[in-house]
Order: sequence, then C-alpha cells, then structure tokens
Amino acid sequence: MQQLISGLIIISTLLFGFCSAVKLGQSCVKDSNCDSGLHCETCLANGNVRPRCTRIQPVNPTSKVKGLPFNRYSWLTTHNSFARLGVRSATGSLILSPTNQQDSVTSQLNNGVRALMLDMYDFQNDIWLCHSFGGQCYNYTAFQPAVNVLKEVGTFLEANPSEIVTIIIEDYVTSPRGLSKVFDAAGLRKFWFPVSRMPKNGGNWPIVDDMIQKNQRLLVFTSKSAKEASEGIAYQWRYMVENQYGNGGMVAGSCPNRAESPAMNVTSRSLVLVNYFPDRPDVTQACKHNSAPLKSMMDRCYAAAGNRWPNFIAVDFYKRSDGGGAPEASDVANGHLVCGCGNIAICRENMTFGVCDIPEAGNAPAPKAAQDSSFAYWNTRPIQLKWLLGLILVAFGLQL
Ligand SMILES: *[C@@H]1O[C@H](CO)[C@@H](O)[C@H](O)[C@H]1NC(C)=O
Ligand SMILES: *[C@@H]1O[C@H](CO)[C@@H](O)[C@H](O)[C@H]1NC(C)=O
Ligand SMILES: *[C@@H]1O[C@H](CO)[C@@H](O)[C@H](O)[C@H]1NC(C)=O
Repeated sequence: MQQLISGLIIISTLLFGFCSAVKLGQSCVKDSNCDSGLHCETCLANGNVRPRCTRIQPVNPTSKVKGLPFNRYSWLTTHNSFARLGVRSATGSLILSPTNQQDSVTSQLNNGVRALMLDMYDFQNDIWLCHSFGGQCYNYTAFQPAVNVLKEVGTFLEANPSEIVTIIIEDYVTSPRGLSKVFDAAGLRKFWFPVSRMPKNGGNWPIVDDMIQKNQRLLVFTSKSAKEASEGIAYQWRYMVENQYGNGGMVAGSCPNRAESPAMNVTSRSLVLVNYFPDRPDVTQACKHNSAPLKSMMDRCYAAAGNRWPNFIAVDFYKRSDGGGAPEASDVANGHLVCGCGNIAICRENMTFGVCDIPEAGNAPAPKAAQDSSFAYWNTRPIQLKWLLGLILVAFGLQL
C-alpha cells in the first residue's frame, strides 16, 4: 500500500509539474508562469481583463524549412524599433515624442523580430535615431546615436550565424556618405548583402542558405533613391511594395499602397510589406490591433498584392495581443509562403507544397493506414489517462 501511494505521488508530481508550464491563453500571474515564447498580460481593449499567456515569438521559419529563396519567408517587423517606451534621450533630455515598442532591439531580435524600421537623421555631427518636428531632430525627439543600435544588430548577427536581418530606413540623412559611415562604424559592412544580388524584375531572391554561407546576412533599404547609385544602399521601393501606414492603412476591407510604393499588385517587386499600426502609437489599443484585425488586413493585402503573402509584417508594440498576435500572423504568412499551408507549424522539410497534414498532438506516431493495432492504441489512451487521474484522486483522498 505504501509503495502504491508513493508511486502515485511521483506520478501526480510529474503530471502537475507538466501542467504548471502555463500554455497559450491560460491565465497567469507573471511572465515566468508562462511557457517560453509567451508572456503574461491582459488586453483591456478587447475586454480581456484576466492576465493570460500570450505569444511574443514567432516560429523561426528557416528552422522548419531551409533552402528557399529569401522572398519565400515572412519576417516579423517592428515599426520604429528604436522608440522604446520609458527611455530618456541619450542627450539627457526627456523624450516628448511617441514611443512604439516596449523592449530593446537586442530583445526584439532575440524574440524573433527580423526586420527593423529605423528613422535616421543628421544630428549633433552624427547619425541619430530620432523623430522629427517639421523635419528637424531635437534633443527631446532624439533617442540615441544610430551606431549603438546598429552595434546591437552586429552582436546578434555574430552570435547567430544563420540568421538574416533586414533594416528599413526612413532616411533623412543628407551628410555626405552619412549612412555608409555609420554602418562602417558599427562594423556591419562584413554582413552586407550587395544591391547587385537583389532581383530587379520580380525574380526570386537568392536562397537563404546561400546568403548565410556568403555571410551576406544584412539587408538594408533606404527611402532615398539616389543612395542606391551613390552608396550601394538599396532603394526600398525598387524591390518592395508596401501598403499605406498609419490610420489610412487600418481601414477594414482596403489595402492601398503607400504613396512612395508601386501599387500592391506590381509583381516586378518581389517583396511585400504590410504595415498595421495607427498614426499615433497606442500601447493600450495595440493588443487589439495586433490580434484579429491584423490578420484580416493581412488577408486583404494578400488579395491586393496579387495573391502574395507579406514578407514583412510591421507593427507597434509587437508583444501586445490577446493571444497569438503578430507572432501568429507571421506564422500564418510563413505557412502559406513556405509550404502552402495555413501555418508554419505544419511545414516540414521536403513536403509537397500545399499538401497539409495537420500534425498529431504530442509525439505520438502519426497513424498510417487504419490498422487494428493503431486503432486500439488510440482508443486505449484516454482510458489509461482516466484511470491515472482516478488513482491520483484516490491517493489525495487517502492523504486527507
Ligand atoms: C541638447 O543636448 C546636448 C547634449 O547632447 C546639450 O549639449 C545641448 O545643450 C542640448 N540642447 C538643448 C537645446 O537643450
Ligand atoms: C492593380 O491594382 C490597381 C489598384 O491599385 C488596379 O487599378 C489594377 O487594376 C490592378 N491590376 C491588376 C492587373 O490586377
Ligand atoms: C530533403 O531532400 C534533400 C534532397 O533530396 C535531402 O538531402 C534531405 O536529406 C531531405 N531532408 C529531409 C529532412 O528529408
């Protein structure tokens, strides 16, 4: 009897230990209650007042299927990645301009963000990450020198030799070779993906494995067309279409291109970027925006872009959602792009595109033909579990 009870206690400890890793959507008290890749938060904007584990990390698509062209993957993108809530300006001033993200660029990259939108200005004889007031950067809108954040990117690329990062610059830099100098100063030149290898007429991008092997793992785009010829920095809209940003990009049922971009359905640009964030960043509403409405807009933009899923999904406060959020939107886009299925979780190496077997839960072997033995196996499992639970209840009953 004693042996039986101690056995049951071990089993119940194992079972409850298993249950204590709190899963997506379950309630929690703090971040450390949740499984990895999740954090604990509410979404008052959606009436979700109870803190729940919600996602902050997408599945890394190249960990599921390697060897596809770069434009066959989707990358979670942070809008104004540098504009972090609660920081002071590196000038010492208070920041009076709005903020768009909750964590550092290093933390964003470690969570699986792979594209950064950075606004760069000439300021204090250097290049700064800044917002402007009438086109001008001020102490109270200047976050920090760009070289600091670019060095964070360099550290990440060094530590993660098979990851690729994209930087999309809203470029206000007019000093001669200002951008080139700051990328050189940050030591990023050695990762540079050359403009000469970017497809000019809607073709496929190089295979990611090839980019990794050649260590060409940093893609940089500028909003200034002249810098492609003068500095070898790709002019964004020669390679990418992009929908309207801000409130104009949040009107349900429409996905217009942003003014500088060709129309969404122009397929001579192989990359598609979808923005989904309001004019004024709103940390309280972001959890709502990044949930169902983001996915609807992604579907709408897919149609507008000539049935193309976004390669970049750009949001504010990427960690905020009422469940799956922007990481899940990224998984969905990757599922479609990588293997023709509704989620990257379904994709496997060498599978036939669009033949989507939903994997079985757990690591149980996938049932093949309906053989008697496998039928019996599937049938007995729930019964065994019920027995186990019954025994555990008995064990607790005995202890009371
Ligand atoms: C802006 O910050 C710098 C320090 O980076 C300081 O020297 C300067 O006086 C400040 N300017 C104003 C207008 O406060
Ligand atoms: C492309 O989209 C534009 C609207 O932006 C539309 O007028 C045009 O008909 C579309 N072209 C094709 C080929 O679908
Ligand atoms: C996928 O196919 C390639 C080439 O046929 C092969 O080398 C590789 O081992 C396959 N991978 C898996 C996981 O089956």
